[in-house]
Amino acid sequence: MISLKNITKMFGSFTAVNDLSFTVESGEVLGFLGPNGAGKSTTMKMITGFLTPSDGQITVGSHDITEEPVQAKSIIGYLPEGAPAYGDMTPEEFLIFIAKVRGLTGSKVKERIDAVIKQTHIQDVLFKPIDTLSKGYKRRVGLAQAIIHDPKILILDEPTDGLDPNQKYEVRKLIKAMAEDKTIIVSTHILEEVSAVCSRAIVIDKGSIVAYGKPHELEERSQYYGAVTISFSEDGDFSDVITSLEQVEGATSVKFDEITERFTTFPTDKKNGTDLFNKVSALVESKGWDVKEIHLERGRFDDFFRSVTAGDLESKTEEQCGDKPSVPAKQDEGAQQ
Ligand SMILES: Nc1ncnc2c1ncn2[C@@H]1O[C@H](COP(=O)(O)OP(=O)(O)OP(=O)(O)O)[C@@H](O)[C@H]1O
Ligand SMILES: [Mg+2]
Repeated sequence: MISLKNITKMFGSFTAVNDLSFTVESGEVLGFLGPNGAGKSTTMKMITGFLTPSDGQITVGSHDITEEPVQAKSIIGYLPEGAPAYGDMTPEEFLIFIAKVRGLTGSKVKERIDAVIKQTHIQDVLFKPIDTLSKGYKRRVGLAQAIIHDPKILILDEPTDGLDPNQKYEVRKLIKAMAEDKTIIVSTHILEEVSAVCSRAIVIDKGSIVAYGKPHELEERSQYYGAVTISFSEDGDFSDVITSLEQVEGATSVKFDEITERFTTFPTDKKNGTDLFNKVSALVESKGWDVKEIHLERGRFDDFFRSVTAGDLESKTEEQCGDKPSVPAKQDEGAQQ
């Protein structure tokens, strides 16, 4: 549904997006991650036709965004960064305006406006000027205008930024429900959102892809995957804890986290996490330690994210970065993944 082939964007001599290629299929929610300035919004602006790539080709549905911008844009819903809107309009006026711009007529206008008002929970602010709304409500109005024409493709730039926890939950639920018959790209800085709503994720840094995969695959590339973490019920003398854990068969090292006050034992082989868990549990029992919590780590997205975007490319291992998405233009079998 969406295909980027070797997309580059230059601003003067600065390369904001560097030779980016990936595809997104119908039914997928692609998480678009990366540190500030990585090139996420710039890429989204190119997919939606707001910026022209310096090089490369973008296809949306069956339309090239540069050659058939009107047809391509008609099947896209876009929530831009910061959810811009006409501030002196009320949400109701704004949605009527957008519905007409999107070509809706007759009873369809009211029908769709009623539907998106319900989906984004903006009933209470419908008649207040948008300029006077809180950040979260502005974003919800932005989301409402993005889905008003029930587009096949949704490009959402940080849709949950500024929302309260209840609304974050609602918007994630909405995105998941819409994914059934749409293709969605969501950028976010909230890493827990990736496992919650995305079927796949791309991490970009300095305009280039540094990691690509299913959320659980990326978590598993974190150093914590297969490690065993324990915390104690009360403060006490833990002087022999690290030494004892280090001596467990299959353990390679032990780390104490001063903030969470947890001890993490890392395995020599990540795949043997369950063995290590059983051995650490046996040690806990034999020592009679009063342990509050013991768990086998499934990997930590935040740790993985830091390891691939820390700015030191040489420190990123091949295992952490994983396979790059395929470049359809250079492969005989065409678009995939
Ligand atoms: N119109 C422009 N002119 C010059 N440089 C630009 C322009 N738009 C973006 N940039 C630069 O391109 C880079 C990528 O910006 P972009 O907004 O795409 O980052 P981002 O990944 O969306 O970051 P954030 O997480 O902060 O939203 C940044 O260095 C930014 O300053
Ligand atoms: Mg951005």
